[in-house]
Amino acid sequence: MGRSGPLPLVALSAALSASAAFLVSARWWWAAAPALALTCAGVGDLLWRRRSARRGHPSAGRLGRPAGWPPPGAVREPRPDAWEEPEFLVPSLWPVEAAQEPPVVRVGGPDCSQPYDMALLNVSAMSFGALSGRAVLALNRGAALGRFAQDTGEGGLSEHHLRGGGDLVWELGTGYFGCRADDGGLDWREFADKAALPEVRCVSLKLSQGAAPGTGAVLPAAKVSAEIARERGVPRGVDVVSPPSHRMFSTPRELVLFVARLREAAGGKPVGLKLCVGARSEFLALCRAMLAEGVAPDFVVVDGAEGGTGAPPPASAGRLGMPLTQGLVTVHNALTGVGLRDRIRIGASGRVATGRDVVTRLIQGADYTNAARAMMLAVGCVRAGRCHTGGCPSGVATQDPLRARALHVARRARQVERYQRETVRDAVRIMAAMGVREPGGLTPAHLVRRVAPGVERSYADLYEWLAPGELLAGPPPSWAADWKAADPDGFD
Ligand SMILES: Cc1cc2nc3c(=O)[nH]c(=O)nc-3n(C[C@H](O)[C@H](O)[C@H](O)COP(=O)(O)O)c2cc1C
Repeated sequence: MGRSGPLPLVALSAALSASAAFLVSARWWWAAAPALALTCAGVGDLLWRRRSARRGHPSAGRLGRPAGWPPPGAVREPRPDAWEEPEFLVPSLWPVEAAQEPPVVRVGGPDCSQPYDMALLNVSAMSFGALSGRAVLALNRGAALGRFAQDTGEGGLSEHHLRGGGDLVWELGTGYFGCRADDGGLDWREFADKAALPEVRCVSLKLSQGAAPGTGAVLPAAKVSAEIARERGVPRGVDVVSPPSHRMFSTPRELVLFVARLREAAGGKPVGLKLCVGARSEFLALCRAMLAEGVAPDFVVVDGAEGGTGAPPPASAGRLGMPLTQGLVTVHNALTGVGLRDRIRIGASGRVATGRDVVTRLIQGADYTNAARAMMLAVGCVRAGRCHTGGCPSGVATQDPLRARALHVARRARQVERYQRETVRDAVRIMAAMGVREPGGLTPAHLVRRVAPGVERSYADLYEWLAPGELLAGPPPSWAADWKAADPDGFD
């Protein structure tokens, strides 16, 4: 069925039954009247700006759900984390007043001359390509309204990212889209020019993603429109598959030196990494390289194995890499253990959707959080499950301009802003109920997990928390083997 759904059929039956009413018997009006009404409504939906679902599927939106539409009640906030044991945050008998202003976290270590104040909740990496231009623009306008950041995703900086005035974290993946040299490496001049744009507040180098471990980004052929092909410098109508690893470095030491060079080329803006943690020794190898070279990224975004993707997720998705809780605890401990935690901020992505999620991730080691799928819902996603086909009915994850029309940019931008504001406000209220005025006051004792019926343990007991510099002074037995194996000149 085409984009106009059953509208042509409804219109045809309206015409036939109306003719029969004139030519055969007035009784035919019983059939003609509802068909005519539906036709008018469908045409109205098509022409005028109405609810996204109806604009995307005139008549079908009234008659019922389009194919692939989720059942009633299915469009709701993501479920509580099914990956974890039941947990609760610890309220205080002495709550405090909630802070009036939403907290921000300063991102930018000593080598950074243009630090950025990051919000507690931001738009996680999603490319123009995975998302429609209108969805990207609505997210960007929402970010501008609410003063939070939008990560561009690895598809490059598009005009849609630059039209809404929102702050950007420009992500570089293995394809270096937007600043790719002819040999597939990074074009430094183009990078410097784009990084100098005032909208670009930070640069994020993506090493890996929870939902697609070991593979570069995949943009299915159905979504490689002429505009995307032009933006990325790739052929039309063929899957765009980025290489699995970076061309510009091949060891932890080379990686941290590359980060330092990126920061310099970006005029001192913060440069960070995005990764899903696999072996602890690999992350420790990065830490050793930072120590050896005396340079460090300004932030590390930890993605959980439970993360999402715009491409068809491989069968292995969610089965490789650490879930977010474990990844966060590992990265926080490793950076603390090598004495670098105070200069590197940690972001967290992986099913963050509510204020409670934000507070939970802060306790587990994050300084701020990013949300992808929850932001998609805010911008109009109806979870039709067709992201990779290009047939998204709500105009969010499609490159079909007619389908994209279903998304009303101004309305969705306000919704994105409201969602972020209310979620952060809720996080602040929850912290106040826990007796904590600022994120820095949260400790692992504030989060409790039921480990067996009737047996509850706080995160302070459940996990080992390293003291600043502990790995350098002499790693505890549980860390010794990984610390020894960590090689700044190799990944094994
Ligand atoms: C449609 C879509 C596109 C994505 N594109 C990217 C991308 O280009 N780069 C990236 O690092 N992560 C990408 N991700 C992963 C998200 O940024 C995020 O890390 C992950 O989905 C976990 O967050 P969530 O649980 O809030 O979705 C994408 C996710 C989705 C759903």
